[in-house]
Amino acid sequence: MAKVKTVFACTACGAVSPKWAGQCPDCGAWNTLQETVQTPAARGPTLVRGQYAGDRGVQSLHQVPTDAELRFTTGLGELDRVLGGGLVEGAVILLGGDPGIGKSTLLLQALALLSQQLPALYVTGEESLRQVALRAGRLGLQSDKLKVLAETSVEAILQVAQSEAPRVMVIDSVQTVYTEHLQSAPGSVAQVRESAAHLVRYAKQTGTVLFLVGHVTKEGTLAGPRVLEHMVDTVLYFESESGSRYRLLRAVKNRFGAVNELGVFAMDDSGLKQVANPSAIFLSRHDGDVSGSVVMVTREGSRPLLVEVQALVADSSLSNPRRVALGLDGNRMAMLLAVLQRHGGISTFGQDVFLNVVGGVRLSETASDLPALMAVLSSLRDRPIPAECVVFGEIGLAGEIRPVPHGEERLREAAKHGFKRAVVPHKNAPRRGAIKGLDVVLVQRLSDAIDALF
Ligand code: TYD
Ligand code: MG
Repeated sequence: MAKVKTVFACTACGAVSPKWAGQCPDCGAWNTLQETVQTPAARGPTLVRGQYAGDRGVQSLHQVPTDAELRFTTGLGELDRVLGGGLVEGAVILLGGDPGIGKSTLLLQALALLSQQLPALYVTGEESLRQVALRAGRLGLQSDKLKVLAETSVEAILQVAQSEAPRVMVIDSVQTVYTEHLQSAPGSVAQVRESAAHLVRYAKQTGTVLFLVGHVTKEGTLAGPRVLEHMVDTVLYFESESGSRYRLLRAVKNRFGAVNELGVFAMDDSGLKQVANPSAIFLSRHDGDVSGSVVMVTREGSRPLLVEVQALVADSSLSNPRRVALGLDGNRMAMLLAVLQRHGGISTFGQDVFLNVVGGVRLSETASDLPALMAVLSSLRDRPIPAECVVFGEIGLAGEIRPVPHGEERLREAAKHGFKRAVVPHKNAPRRGAIKGLDVVLVQRLSDAIDALF
């Protein structure tokens, strides 16, 4: 028998090296090299000529038929929104998330709805069919047309898929499946990559929509190699703040739509419910005015959302005071504190500064600059900002307040929720005249905003 040869593969990037090292020489990640059995190149060629992605030969681009971008809805509006308006034929979607967050529940619900219109197949490698059936029963799903399979061999799955010809297929999860071409254990880098490659190729060739469920590591990235994210069309993350019943579905990559869309669900004892109007769920309702809290209107994807930015500024005993930002960019916070010092004349050198966005929302847009800084100031001075006031705007390094996109829509959303006052960039003045019930204060410089609020 030939001697078994082992190599060390990085669990982050998939690079192999002959010797173990503390740091991956390729991607620089620490403690990610794992010993795996090296296998000879799979005999079945991984890339069959003329078969990849189902197309053959060279054509000019305008001759390629494009009427195929037919979108069909999943029946869950929030999922469709994050997918960019529904499913596209042959799309491969990777759904990541912590254990117990509700990935299986979400896909089972979506697939039960889809199975009413299209052939659908749910493949589970983690649960028994009995468990899946019990869950479907508890969720009250109409499951008469939904096909289920408990299987972990990719070859067996694809054989079933070929005879059943589903239009939508779920693999729960990609870490439990294995291909017989490789000898390494399911969940190892090589297996995950190779199994996913087989499944993706099948999806592209047949136009089947494929959902892959992926586990998330302690560090919050998808377990298995990052290459998985490159192989699929769409990467979705399902997440929540610990203890909250709300679940956020977010796209981090999408070849068929925008990536800043946010889908909101609530988990209760009968499964996931869509939250179609999530605008105000992220506000913590205080009994009175509290300092360090500012409500802003963000625009995640295609709809405005009211969120609360909180700050805590406390005297520090450290020579290097702490700066912690949750849900906001830490570098941006450092920059904003420098602007506050230079253009507002207010320094926080001796204080720890903590910033947090309520409800586990992550803000990536610059409209959070002004609310974040106003929350810091409110906490520093222990002066509450009235609860019926909203703030948004970008801050430039020269202390100017810059406009943000869709200002008017944000203002109308705030007015709809009963806010009475808004402190916003000068250039975001509503064009279509005054907004009923909302006193809009326009500011041009940081000092104007400070004067308006304190
Ligand atoms: P699950 O979909 O199994 O999570 P994942 O596949 O992401 O690991 O979700 C399991 C969790 O959801 C579990 O903690 C219980 C909760 N849950 C409910 O609260 N209500 C329900 O109706 C269901 C089915 C699950
Ligand atoms: Mg699961």
